[in-house]
Amino acid sequence: MCGIVGYIGKGQVSGVILDALSRLEYRGYDSAGIAVLNSRGLEVRRRMGKLKELVKAVDERPLKGTLGLGHTRWATHGEPSEINAHPHTDCHGRIAVVHNGIVENYAPLKERLLKQGHAFRSKTDTEVIAHLVEELAKQHPLEEAFRLALKELRGSYAVCLVSADEPRRIFGARNASPLVVGVGKGEAFFASDVPAILARTRRVVYLNDGEVVTLGPEGPRITTLAGRPVRRKPTTVTWDVASARKGGFPHFMLKEIHEQAGAIEQTLFNRLDPAKGRVIFDRRTRRFLDGLSPQEKLVIISCGTAYHAGLVGQYMLEEMAHMPVDVDLASEFRYRGPMLDRYTTVIAITQSGETADTLAGVRLAKEQGAKVFAICNVMGSSIARAADAVLYTHAGPEIAVASTKAYTCQVTALALLTLYLARKRQRIPTAQWKRLVQGLGDVPRLVDQALAGEPAIKAVAAKYAAARNFYYLGRRYNFPSALEGALKLKEICPLIHAEGYAAGEMKHGPISLIRKGWPIVFIATHSPVYEKVISNIEEVRARHGDCIVIASEGDATIKRHADSLITVPKTEEFFSPIMAAIPLQLFAYYVADANGCDIDQPPNLAKSVTVE
Ligand code: M6R
Repeated sequence: MCGIVGYIGKGQVSGVILDALSRLEYRGYDSAGIAVLNSRGLEVRRRMGKLKELVKAVDERPLKGTLGLGHTRWATHGEPSEINAHPHTDCHGRIAVVHNGIVENYAPLKERLLKQGHAFRSKTDTEVIAHLVEELAKQHPLEEAFRLALKELRGSYAVCLVSADEPRRIFGARNASPLVVGVGKGEAFFASDVPAILARTRRVVYLNDGEVVTLGPEGPRITTLAGRPVRRKPTTVTWDVASARKGGFPHFMLKEIHEQAGAIEQTLFNRLDPAKGRVIFDRRTRRFLDGLSPQEKLVIISCGTAYHAGLVGQYMLEEMAHMPVDVDLASEFRYRGPMLDRYTTVIAITQSGETADTLAGVRLAKEQGAKVFAICNVMGSSIARAADAVLYTHAGPEIAVASTKAYTCQVTALALLTLYLARKRQRIPTAQWKRLVQGLGDVPRLVDQALAGEPAIKAVAAKYAAARNFYYLGRRYNFPSALEGALKLKEICPLIHAEGYAAGEMKHGPISLIRKGWPIVFIATHSPVYEKVISNIEEVRARHGDCIVIASEGDATIKRHADSLITVPKTEEFFSPIMAAIPLQLFAYYVADANGCDIDQPPNLAKSVTVE
């Protein structure tokens, strides 16, 4: 939520900052702003709406300078408007601040600063930071004033500050909101996320909570809030700039859907040896997993799409590894008073590694003595660093708000984890285990095959694009697929209400809504409950519902049960959620496209939810 950028270098700052912001716009797009420092002092431009409005404003009145800040906003305190857009400045326009997070105690701070004579312009929590530093800088050098101000803040922040009184420095800090430092040649950056700076550098310093950075063109000087120096070398990220661009696709979502075979292959790379029938993990992961107790309980926590991956993982781990598994929405888990102990492993699943609720769940788990295993896509992210062991999904940067390749890679990682644990615990017959290991190796090829069905899926989407209510139904491994299919559609097509259910649950209530022509997407791939799903389809058709059925290739009987049929390669049920995900994603994409929706930036959403 909210993307922030800081830049100091040799070039003209506004172009670099606007380019970086364009790669962070997926974090929020209610309004955007930029502040540049030059010989005239601080110049600020802010605009309501998407980044293109700000770009227009800067084109009309160009900004010159070699140091500055940028921000793209997802509103929390104060409606989206120009006055509430960042950067926020102090009374005299000499200090500018951009912020991502929530200053929870902004009200008492504001009251105090008002009494001290400060004049506020916006309704945001962020503006207090600018005035607080202004006030403290009356008595202290700027860096010290910044540090003292941070000590007064409660809540979460990634914050960057520039001042006309220190024209060669940018200050930054983080607490529970993401912020990285990029080190280039004669230039340096702050950014919420690595893709923002990939075009200029791949050398990145990840910051920890409670660290403060003074950034010059030569790079960062990191200290703790107490002022103690911190030594940390930059790491080189493997993502390349092409992976953060659309590459000829009209939307990031479509590009990322098409990247799935490669992303899954990367996630399996060096971890699966189908020829020898082996799952191989690095030493740290092995040590962690081999150390689990015989009575270990697993608790999966995650949000949104990652939660749906977790539900698939529950079916996998319970059936194949015979381990007890609970799955919790992280936002509920953290307030539920869960019973955890040292025989519990909390598995946190997250693309970004920064989701506030999942991170809070991880911290709660650790406080209660549980172990934490993360399945995460972003190296160096907060959750990856907080976990005892991490299984990275190697999906590459996922930019579209709607998660696609991260989801199928999370399910792939859960399949690897399941097969490793099932073997270790000798809970699975060797022949079945070998079949599954080989099947997993085949998944990337089969995903490509499923993607080849795109034109047919597009045609089905066109047929139903005018509908405004959808049900998605599935059973067992594909009950989570139904939830995920519905989430994809309602997320990117806000005109439509879509609901996912367990197919067997329909007759306990939701079936009452079925009317003639109501579209219901069924996942009816090859499985032990196939016939039960067919019965559920017939129950709906008896009420004149219009059934869009996703079935396995070669299923000769399904045609007579389907009003519209989409097929995917036949696999073991274990892999079917990955196969089903492809048409579900493409169907949502093409329905949204036919409705003219803003697919990569749906209203009210942001990619990483780093506030509660
Ligand atoms: O970064 P995370 O995986 O922790 O994010 C969790 C959810 O916010 C995310 O999956 C969200 O539901 C997606 N926009 C769904 O497409």
